[in-house]
Amino acid sequence: MTWVAFHVGAAEPDTAAAADYAQAGARSCLTCHNRPAVRGLLQTTHASRADPRGPFTDHDCESCHGPSAEHRRDENLPVAVQFEGGADRFPHASVEVQNQVCLGCHQNGLRTHWSGSEHQFADLACVSCHDIHQENDVVLTKATQTSVCIGCHQEKRAQLQLRSHHPVNEGLMVCSDCHNAHGSVTEHLLIGNTVNDTCTGCHAEKRGPFLWEHEPVSDGCTNCHNPHGSVVDRLLTLRTPSLCQSCHQDANHPSTLYSGDDIPPIGAAQQLLGQACLNCHSQVHGSNHPSGSRLTR
Ligand code: HEC
Ligand code: HEC
Ligand code: HEC
Ligand code: HEC
Ligand code: HEC
Ligand code: HEC
Ligand code: HEC
Ligand code: HEC
Ligand code: HEC
Ligand code: HEC
Repeated sequence: MTWVAFHVGAAEPDTAAAADYAQAGARSCLTCHNRPAVRGLLQTTHASRADPRGPFTDHDCESCHGPSAEHRRDENLPVAVQFEGGADRFPHASVEVQNQVCLGCHQNGLRTHWSGSEHQFADLACVSCHDIHQENDVVLTKATQTSVCIGCHQEKRAQLQLRSHHPVNEGLMVCSDCHNAHGSVTEHLLIGNTVNDTCTGCHAEKRGPFLWEHEPVSDGCTNCHNPHGSVVDRLLTLRTPSLCQSCHQDANHPSTLYSGDDIPPIGAAQQLLGQACLNCHSQVHGSNHPSGSRLTR
């Protein structure tokens, strides 16, 4: 990261400003900004002088806010890079410029697919989620991350409260167990290469391959499950038998209600017992039994 690159509008490195600041350091800012809301940053990894890649090895506050000698001399003049999320005393820099500052040090790893991601496309700033001056960044803390996400994704708040849900509200899981907010190779910002990869990271026993696959399972868990929540047990999109019948209309043994005239091949009463195809087809995710082709064992 070259610090001088952030001298917005400057074609040439501003070495005078750099030398000036190298002498002054964070202390020169904190003489005026000695508030808890600003000082919180000093408790974070960003303020570590031990990490040679960090902002505090060289230009301290100005690694992010840009060379701001003018502001230090006259508080009515703006800092070079004003982020959104503060008191917004000065007009903030474009989202692109704000993010360039962060990406200058954080381009790789989880951010490899930031460019072109849904969030980048929606013009989100890194600091729409991250709280840089807080000792504990809200979005990195398990207990508070969800509140950041559902602040914008309201419909997920409701879904997570349905009867059947992943234990997100209970604090045992977070959105980022399944999503990479910075972008990914899949639709919907999933952490895995596919929906199934994402799910079987935890539910390994459903991964297969099975001797007898059930096609919709290998195709995608979301054929039958809603990951965010459902009124039906087990996060199912529909109750059985309707769930099964939404695809299996007329199998060898009809899965629909029998009229009084028909002689059912296996037995109507049995097949609809407890509305449960699962009483017999218990291996709905696939079977490894030699004679499990009908997913019954
Ligand atoms: C890692 C980048 C980074 C560093 C280093 C940094 N800041 Fe910030 N600063 C930000 C961001 C981003 C915001 C916008 C608000 C937020 O996300 O916390 C901000 C906001 C502010 C605000 C406005 C806060 C408010 O509540 O009005 C002040 C003042 C400020 N920074 C001063 C400083 C000072 C002084 C230092 C050095 C001690 C510093 N910053 C170091 C990124 C940084
Ligand atoms: C002479 C006192 C003084 C010095 C030195 C100073 N500032 Fe400021 N700064 C102010 C005042 C006053 C404001 C406007 C009121 C406020 O937001 O706190 C301000 C505003 C800001 C803001 C905008 C806050 C917002 O969101 O509205 C940022 C960011 C900031 N300063 C960063 C810095 C950084 C970084 C340094 C060091 C390079 C620095 N300041 C040095 C007095 C100072
Ligand atoms: C000068 C380089 C530099 C800049 C600029 C910078 N960071 Fe960092 N950041 C680091 C380093 C180094 C670490 C600590 C090691 C790591 O986690 O990679 C870090 C850590 C973090 C962490 C993890 C904190 C933790 O507690 O684990 C977050 C989140 C983060 N940065 C976000 C941002 C955002 C958002 C911006 C822009 C406002 C930004 N950084 C600007 C270098 C930088
Ligand atoms: C939509 C919310 C959101 C946005 C926007 C966002 N982040 Fe994050 N960030 C997260 C979450 C959630 C985590 C922690 C979970 C994880 O690891 O995926 C995180 C973790 C991080 C970390 C620490 C983990 C690591 O990779 O070392 C860094 C650094 C970071 N983000 C930088 C950035 C930068 C830079 C941007 C802007 C390009 C950005 N983030 C934009 C939500 C966001
Ligand atoms: C158990 C894994 C999992 C968790 C936890 C999770 N999601 Fe998802 N999310 C998914 C999957 C899988 C999809 C893709 C759905 C599809 O293909 O039908 C998705 C899709 C989405 C979508 C876009 C499509 C839609 O359904 O609107 C949004 C927005 C979303 N998730 C937000 C969130 C937020 C916010 C959280 C945390 C409150 C969260 N998710 C937690 C797995 C998860
Ligand atoms: C500042 C608002 C904001 C925040 C905070 C935010 N998002 Fe988003 N998110 C958006 C917007 C805008 C889009 C793109 C439009 C859409 O699909 O809703 C989006 C898109 C998504 C998508 C893809 C939706 C799709 O249809 O494929 C997922 C998944 C998602 N966000 C998850 C998250 C997670 C997880 C978090 C928290 C770590 C989060 N978002 C935080 C605004 C936000
Ligand atoms: C980070 C780990 C993790 C990931 C990833 C994950 N799950 Fe889960 N899943 C859990 C946990 C924890 C439970 C709750 C187990 C319990 O309550 O005993 C659960 C429960 C379930 C249940 C049963 C709910 C019930 O009512 O018993 C279903 C169905 C399920 N997950 C499907 C999925 C699907 C589909 C995906 C992918 C979109 C997925 N899971 C991704 C951890 C995960
Ligand atoms: C064809 C529909 C269907 C598909 C596709 C499907 N499931 Fe299921 N799943 C079910 C049904 C039905 C149940 C309820 C089983 C029961 O109650 O005995 C269930 C239950 C579960 C459970 C909780 C009970 C248990 O067996 O552990 C988990 C976890 C689960 N599924 C994960 C997954 C994962 C992961 C995928 C994708 C690899 C997936 N499911 C794909 C229909 C499906
Ligand atoms: C999204 C559509 C879909 C859903 C929902 C679905 N299935 Fe299937 N199922 C299929 C497909 C496709 C096949 C493969 C058919 C084939 O090979 O001819 C299949 C195969 C089967 C087989 C093996 C039949 C054979 O000929 O090999 C059984 C048994 C079965 N499903 C039972 C169920 C049950 C029980 C449910 C409800 C829990 C269910 N299915 C839900 C699409 C679905
Ligand atoms: C009483 C046990 C039982 C119940 C309940 C049951 N089935 Fe079956 N099903 C079987 C048996 C046994 C076979 C294998 C029949 C054969 O090989 O001729 C079978 C075969 C199937 C097949 C494969 C048919 C084919 O084309 O060869 C499908 C699909 C199927 N069942 C779906 C369902 C659905 C959907 C339900 C719930 C509405 C259901 N079954 C309820 C026992 C049952």
